[in-house]
Amino acid sequence: MASQTAMLLLPVFCLSLFAMASAGNLNRDLQITWGDGRAKILNGGELLTLSLDKASGSGFQSTHEYLFGKIDMQIKLVPGNSAGTVTAYYLSSQGPTHDEIDFEFLGNLSGDPYTLHTNVFTQGKGNREMQFKLWFDPTLDFHGYSVLWTSQHIVFMVDGTPIREFKNLESRGVPFPRSQAMRIYSSLWNADDWATSQNSLFFCGLIKTDWSNAPFTASYRNFNAVACVWVAGKSSCTAGKLAGGGVSWMDYRMDLESQKRMEWVQRNHMIYNYCTDLKRFPQGLPPECALA
Ligand SMILES: *[C@@H]1O[C@H](CO)[C@@H](O)[C@H](O)[C@H]1NC(C)=O
Repeated sequence: MASQTAMLLLPVFCLSLFAMASAGNLNRDLQITWGDGRAKILNGGELLTLSLDKASGSGFQSTHEYLFGKIDMQIKLVPGNSAGTVTAYYLSSQGPTHDEIDFEFLGNLSGDPYTLHTNVFTQGKGNREMQFKLWFDPTLDFHGYSVLWTSQHIVFMVDGTPIREFKNLESRGVPFPRSQAMRIYSSLWNADDWATSQNSLFFCGLIKTDWSNAPFTASYRNFNAVACVWVAGKSSCTAGKLAGGGVSWMDYRMDLESQKRMEWVQRNHMIYNYCTDLKRFPQGLPPECALA
């Protein structure tokens, strides 16, 4: 009788173990860095929330640094009137010649679409903005935002659909991030004073944050980094492991299907592309624009 019960329970037990393993644990993978209690890891490490009120925003970073990887996160953005708030989710290395891969979600009035702002910094220089309107309401549900970063390219993905690719064009003189390890960072903050900053090119006319809606909250779950962890100057991906062909994300290429889907997004949902902004680059577009 007892052993029958054990047999019945076993599959349930295994299933729940599997679910725990696949969800990751945010207590282990992420660290709250600021916000004085406004950032929280909940449900035993399944959920992280950032919040913003008039006094402060909040933020977290990854426990590890990475040098290449496929990094997935599901995010549910601030609902309702989120105008003036920015949810930044990015990878960055340190120092004046840092590399950076950015997703930034610019809030909007209730019912008006968020802007998804992306950028790539190499050796301290950015100015590679591309902006999108999402094809769904990112505040109703969690959606997946991924960065695939290999020595060959960086691919930004939304729910598995590539929206932007930054290729390694070092052979043509375009710096590519491939030697500085990056950490993941996220913050929720108030950006309604950006109109006066150098970013006014993108944020002029931004509506003031309506603090009567505070606190603003964004939620994160299912963080998954299939990545090379950088520890004490060494990568966890040994040459042998890569040569063995075992790491599929390393070999990811944009096949025809992915290429078509990215073109669809860029044709229908892209609202700004630095590569077509001749007014901004009167002496010529950046070199990668001709080669993309
Ligand atoms: C807010 O929505 C309006 C109307 O669609 C749009 O023109 C504007 O760019 C949006 N602002 C942001 C910051 O996304």
